Amino acid sequence: MNKVVEVLPDKEALIQRSLELVLAKMQAAIAHRGLCTIALSGGSTPKPLYEKIAQQNLPWDKIHVFWGDERYVPPTHPDSNERMARQAWLDQVPMPASNIHPMPTGSGDPAQDANLHEADLQAFFHTQPGEFPALDIILLGMGDDGHTASLFPHTDALQVRDRLITVGNKDGQPRLTFTAPLINQARTVIFVVAGASKRPALAQVFADVADDSQYPSRLIQPQGELWWLLDQAAGEEIQG
Ligand code: 6PG
Repeated sequence: MNKVVEVLPDKEALIQRSLELVLAKMQAAIAHRGLCTIALSGGSTPKPLYEKIAQQNLPWDKIHVFWGDERYVPPTHPDSNERMARQAWLDQVPMPASNIHPMPTGSGDPAQDANLHEADLQAFFHTQPGEFPALDIILLGMGDDGHTASLFPHTDALQVRDRLITVGNKDGQPRLTFTAPLINQARTVIFVVAGASKRPALAQVFADVADDSQYPSRLIQPQGELWWLLDQAAGEEIQG
């Protein structure tokens, strides 16, 4: 793993830098392998980034979109990460529907949907059970509590090492999430984190010693590149 930390002066500069990095990694993936696989983060921070990506002139048929986690709600629900990304980006560009791989949340059984999505990923990436595919780019956010994707503090999802997808739990609400080992297999992981409310958790995530179960973003130590893109409000006390 090689870790790069960049602190940008404000949210707008953070989003612009995130765009530049994502575009560079997309173009490199397409140049090297003919396609780019990218997993999106949810929440509020990345929405302006997705809006900017939608304004680019990219080979949309060569880009495959996944999600690193999803709330267990229909894709029409206001809390849906799929809904946010479609509105901000995917509905604005001519990307083939078959290039968009949302996490299923329709069976009423999160564990069953997690298994279904895992099977879909294995089919797409031609991997066998127990084998972890390497996505080109995984975008991540970080909660005020130090969670990432839907790997929340002191939840069972943190311990899952033999699956690609598992069921996360936020205050009793089920979520589907990439597991830590799947995230760590990525070629490039990019955290995009903004705001002063993230500062205390960031201090723990970047500390030499802290509780990984309390601050699950510490579990993200990918084989490939790890980028932390922070705005000044979140990252002013962080050294690279
Ligand atoms: C989600 C996200 C989650 C998010 C963090 C940060 O489903 O909410 O995937 O991991 O990235 O909670 O959220 P904000 O960007 O809204 O602060």
